[in-house]
Amino acid sequence: MLHLINKEKIPQHIAIIMDGNGRWAKERGKDRLFGHQHGVLSVREVVEGCVEAGIKNLTLYAFSTENWNRPENEVNGLMELLVTTIRKEAETLSKNGVRLFVIGDLDSLPLACRQELDEAMALTAENKSLNLILALSYSSKWEILEATKKIAAKVKAGELLEGDINDEVFKSHLSTAAFPDPELMIRTSGENRISNFLLYQLAYAELYFTHTHWPDFRKENLYEAILNYQNRERRFGKISEQLHLA
Ligand code: FPP
Repeated sequence: MLHLINKEKIPQHIAIIMDGNGRWAKERGKDRLFGHQHGVLSVREVVEGCVEAGIKNLTLYAFSTENWNRPENEVNGLMELLVTTIRKEAETLSKNGVRLFVIGDLDSLPLACRQELDEAMALTAENKSLNLILALSYSSKWEILEATKKIAAKVKAGELLEGDINDEVFKSHLSTAAFPDPELMIRTSGENRISNFLLYQLAYAELYFTHTHWPDFRKENLYEAILNYQNRERRFGKISEQLHLA
């Protein structure tokens, strides 16, 4: 299906809510962590798929602020899985030109997890083909409030004028300041929600929902979503005729 994708209309940034690991595991009579473990294979597939399709930025919602409220064994299992996966995959990511970034309330992560992430980010810092952005202990409302506090502090300190606050200034205070806004947001497993993910950045994104559970999501599913995106008309508030004027 890769050959059907129009290379001229590749989204610069894809964001994914990886949902359905728990349901996938339950359908197989296994515990939720089994689903998360299989979800890692899908992460690998999608990263490879993005490199092959020429996508420059991929954000994965790996752990939300609200996920801390899950049973302790699931939270610990997910943190461990994250540490072991990053350790195992860092070299491969590096060889494939993938640069790792993390967004979220990183101070709330266990020390081992932060250290592993720091090492992998340093190892991949020079890579250029794909920015892989992991949203960890992330929630968009938290991020927007943090940005607002930083801006308010600058105004109070006289470093920024209230009248100069615009979209560009606001964006530069978000954790995604270094990346373009996602043009395509994919959510797996049949839920039609954004769930506190990149609320500001997704303002004009095309949303794609699929019933496939995350552990079953493969490159072909990614390409199907990209093709679906390419067949949509993005109007940004304009009317169709305005877009087709020479
Ligand atoms: C949502 O499924 C998934 C998560 C909360 C965790 C996602 C984590 C991974 C795929 C593994 C680690 C990732 C990386 C980047 C190494 P759910 O548990 O909410 O599923 P459910 O809705 O069926 O219960």
